[in-house]
Amino acid sequence: MNFGSIIIRWYKKNKRDLPWRETRNPYLIWLSEIILQQTRVEQGLPYYLSFAEKYPDVKSLAASKEDDVLKLWQGLGYYSRARNLHKAAKQIAGEFSGKFPSDYHLIRSLNGIGDYTAAAIASFAFDQKYPVVDGNVYRFLSRQFGIKTPIDTAAGKKEFTELAGELMKDFPPAIFNQAIMEFGARLCRPANPDCANCPLNASCFSFKNQTVFSFPIKKNKTKTKNRYFNYLVIRHKNTFFIRKRNDKDIWQGLYDFPLIETKERIAETLFLHSDEWKKTFRGQKIKLLSISTEFKHVLSHQHIHAKFYEISVDLPMFNEPKPEWKKVDTTSVKKYALPRLIEIYLKNSIG
Ligand code: ADE
Repeated sequence: MNFGSIIIRWYKKNKRDLPWRETRNPYLIWLSEIILQQTRVEQGLPYYLSFAEKYPDVKSLAASKEDDVLKLWQGLGYYSRARNLHKAAKQIAGEFSGKFPSDYHLIRSLNGIGDYTAAAIASFAFDQKYPVVDGNVYRFLSRQFGIKTPIDTAAGKKEFTELAGELMKDFPPAIFNQAIMEFGARLCRPANPDCANCPLNASCFSFKNQTVFSFPIKKNKTKTKNRYFNYLVIRHKNTFFIRKRNDKDIWQGLYDFPLIETKERIAETLFLHSDEWKKTFRGQKIKLLSISTEFKHVLSHQHIHAKFYEISVDLPMFNEPKPEWKKVDTTSVKKYALPRLIEIYLKNSIG
């Protein structure tokens, strides 16, 4: 099976039911796409529902006051999106008698609509063959095909758009475009891609070469720092130790596990024989239960590479060795404020 058939089959089985996927109405599709720029689906969904209710069509939006549109947008950020939305609605009401244009170039000419949004509307509403190339698609295609052209260049944009266009050729545009974006967003995730369950892993360039995290390539990289967190999940029956992060560092005031940070990624055997490890468990009877694979957690300027060493201890001999360590029930840990990384680890390991 080829690329398109595989992603469409995956999409049909795994897609989220979202209201803008149930419609062919170009106005509602446009609204959803503007709201979803720089915004996650979960955050955008309630805004989409309020807008669709208050302004059910182009004419009602065009007839509204900008102040009212901005008020309804409150909390979503990037307010120029709302102003452009309102301006474009007036354009459609004036120049197109309130009927949303179906021609790609006319759609593209509207206020606040760029290549991506025009392609999304043209394909989702009118089934026209324009590939959507958003951040998810750049990441997914660059990993799958090992494309090293920087995505933030004109050459990169052209190459990825042409490739996506070629791949979509034999498939219905609306479903192909939804599928490629959903695949990138949900499987080929930036930080923790689900390569194990990916139906395209056998043909994936970066999976084969273990360079998944090297893609996509950007020319103007913002400087990021790599940090290596080796967490100690010290268990005794149904309890384990957590500790409050008090340092002037990320996640101040939140709880994680006792942590040994290293300057570089450290091999497991080296870590288990390190001075830090020996100092922590000096003379204690311990049992190493498991070592997790590496979790990569992406923050705006830091990449956290975390491994979790799960250890069981004979508690009477190991009673809260450091004042900031706190022994808690594994089921009550959810009451504490936890970084997302820790939440994900717990979900995968403890359940
Ligand atoms: N993000 C941008 N457009 C989207 C869509 N149509 N469905 C889900 N997420 C999206």
